[in-house]
Amino acid sequence: MARAELRTVTMRSSPLPRCVLLLLPLPLLSLFSGIDVASAATTAAPLKFGINYGQIANNLPHPTQVSDFLQSLNVNRVKLYDADPAVLTAFAGTGVEFIVSNEDLFNLTDARKARAWVAQHVQPFLPGTRITCITVGNEVLSGKDTAAMQSLLPAMQAVYQAVVVLGLAGQVNVSTAHSVNILASSYPPSSGAFREELAQYVQPILNFHAEVGSPFLINAYPFFAYKASPGTVSLPYVLFEPNPGVVDPNTNLTYDNMLYAQIDAVYAAMKAMGHTDLTVRISETGWPSKGDDDEVGATVANAAAYNGNLMKRIAMGQGTPLKPHVPVDVFVFALFNEDMKPGPTSERNYGLFYPNGTPVYNLGFDRASFNPPSPTYSSSSKLAAITFQMAVVVLLAGFFL
Ligand SMILES: *[C@@H]1O[C@H](CO)[C@@H](O)[C@H](O)[C@H]1NC(C)=O
Ligand SMILES: *[C@@H]1O[C@H](CO)[C@@H](O)[C@H](O)[C@H]1NC(C)=O
Ligand SMILES: *[C@@H]1O[C@H](CO)[C@@H](O)[C@H](O)[C@H]1NC(C)=O
Repeated sequence: MARAELRTVTMRSSPLPRCVLLLLPLPLLSLFSGIDVASAATTAAPLKFGINYGQIANNLPHPTQVSDFLQSLNVNRVKLYDADPAVLTAFAGTGVEFIVSNEDLFNLTDARKARAWVAQHVQPFLPGTRITCITVGNEVLSGKDTAAMQSLLPAMQAVYQAVVVLGLAGQVNVSTAHSVNILASSYPPSSGAFREELAQYVQPILNFHAEVGSPFLINAYPFFAYKASPGTVSLPYVLFEPNPGVVDPNTNLTYDNMLYAQIDAVYAAMKAMGHTDLTVRISETGWPSKGDDDEVGATVANAAAYNGNLMKRIAMGQGTPLKPHVPVDVFVFALFNEDMKPGPTSERNYGLFYPNGTPVYNLGFDRASFNPPSPTYSSSSKLAAITFQMAVVVLLAGFFL
């Protein structure tokens, strides 16, 4: 994908946006004329969203293949649920930015063990692999384990101390990912508040973030709200499709999608605890392409709409109504369908790709849809890469025409 194409479509003031579509067949031409599309792809501008690379599956490609694949897609930010050395090694020298995780809260509260873990699982990969954040625990405060809740901040502090002692401060942030369920109220967004019983944990965690300058991470799935009340929650509103929006009566700000309302509710909840100094990032969001009979809304069309529309907004650098100048920052869940995840069918069907690299959907853009013959992983991944990039470019082009 030529760099110029992406640049053209991202220049809003460009006087000749209609030329963009004429350029679209180029990747196809280059494919059929045998030009190496993977190397062409690496010259394009990186995509602005990150992807969660979950590995609860028995059929995923080797990390070195995933590394090639993600580079061909121009994805340059990845979040892991561990600090898999095979993955971190495979991405050395690629410039791809990583969030790594450790959910072993009890060990991490021990300063010595925290330091040993950072020294063994993070430090050796730097700077070859760009690890920029460690998340300690995942959705701990919305769980039921009060011992874990009590260990969360001490573990974050111990990991931060380790980062400082090992000379990595400024290079590696320390955070944790919360479910949006730690909010007691999220609508209207201006009335956002953390659950009262969690205040004892949340307040000092917010203070910690402010002290060390790390982002507040939220996992947010408008899908869950829709699935719980399909009769009352507007599908266009959760899918970023055209809709009249809803006005927050306290601010007069209009919200045309639930994700932005949730982000601003988190800002309001933090403000109520005295913090206007923190950045909210979305560590997970996504939509399943398949679900059980009772999982209303889990369809390929909805997943394509949600992720496609979200990517379009991210590409614009859009902020939320409350923070219009702070681009929404998102890690999409997930890279692959994960066949060994427990729970309802939806849990195994959040992937943008099947494990063989074939897209689960082409982000809803027919122009870009052609099915790879996929004789081998490598060639199917190249085709998938082209399909994906074409979808992104068509989507960008479509937006600016
Ligand atoms: C916690 O630490 C102990 C002792 O250092 C170690 O054996 C154990 O594997 C650690 N737990 C996890 C889940 O890594
Ligand atoms: C750490 O987080 C802060 C706040 O979000 C951000 O400004 C900074 O760039 C992050 N540092 C790294 C190394 O990513
Ligand atoms: C919202 O709009 C109403 C009606 O125009 C106006 O009276 C009110 O002052 C506005 N509130 C804010 C916070 O701007």
